[in-house]
Amino acid sequence: MAARPQTVLHSGSVQAELRYVIDTGAKPRTYISPQHSGQPSRRVDTVDIREMRIHDAWPLAGEASLDREGFELHQQESQVCDFHDDEEVERVHYPEIEGLIRRATGAARVSIFDHTRRSAGDRRPGVRDPVRSVHNDYTPKSGPQRVRDLFPEEAEGLLKRRFAVVNAWHSIRERVESHPLAVCDARSIAPKDLLATDLVYEDRVGEVFNLAHNPEHQWFYFPGIEQNQTILLKCFDSAVDGRARFTAHTAFDDPETVDGAPPRESIELRALVFFDDGPSTGG
Ligand code: OGA
Ligand code: FE
Repeated sequence: MAARPQTVLHSGSVQAELRYVIDTGAKPRTYISPQHSGQPSRRVDTVDIREMRIHDAWPLAGEASLDREGFELHQQESQVCDFHDDEEVERVHYPEIEGLIRRATGAARVSIFDHTRRSAGDRRPGVRDPVRSVHNDYTPKSGPQRVRDLFPEEAEGLLKRRFAVVNAWHSIRERVESHPLAVCDARSIAPKDLLATDLVYEDRVGEVFNLAHNPEHQWFYFPGIEQNQTILLKCFDSAVDGRARFTAHTAFDDPETVDGAPPRESIELRALVFFDDGPSTGG
């Protein structure tokens, strides 16, 4: 079981600013392609910065579950030598994380379809900034669309059964000492908080949820999380039977970060997770 690293001295919650959006009634658009790089990534007037309490998640580490809170933590060693090497990540790490997700969920089939490295300090190509706004990666529209995009031949059959999108997130240096990832207990998110936003790429339009503020949101993070501790995060579930479907998350500035702490460097892998346990129940 993954446990709180010995090096993390503080415990308890912190107070930090999180970036939400205001529901204006209009559907926001975010432009991703280089061609649109002159466009503002989001209309400034819709940003809603709120001070929120972010609880220490270590006491929950053994209990939190993908189907209830929408996230869970696993101890996961890796044979990868260089997380900046795409070829090695795809050859070595994809199977490691596919195995982890299969064991954690009991899924019949797990297929990782992309990975993203993030750092607040590393300007190398292929390294993106942490995401400093509260969001969930998929919606009831874009979750099934991802299956159609990636498995055009099989999609009809696959969409008849339950499936999910799960992210696996971990540090690729030592422990996280700045810009940690906060995750929101899925049970504290109301349907009205989820605001669909177009993500306009050169060749397709994706859809994510940005979130409107709700004082009920219960936020958590794992201070000092180590490289071999992986957060699994549910970003979509086709089942509408009460289990977690959307788990909002965001990077934030941790007030406990000490001066000169190295920037967080992380990788997240996204997986389609297919189940044998009954038909898809909508979504
Ligand atoms: C993700 C994500 C943001 C970050 O893993 O889906 O939004 O800053 N990550 O790591
Ligand atoms: Fe995300």
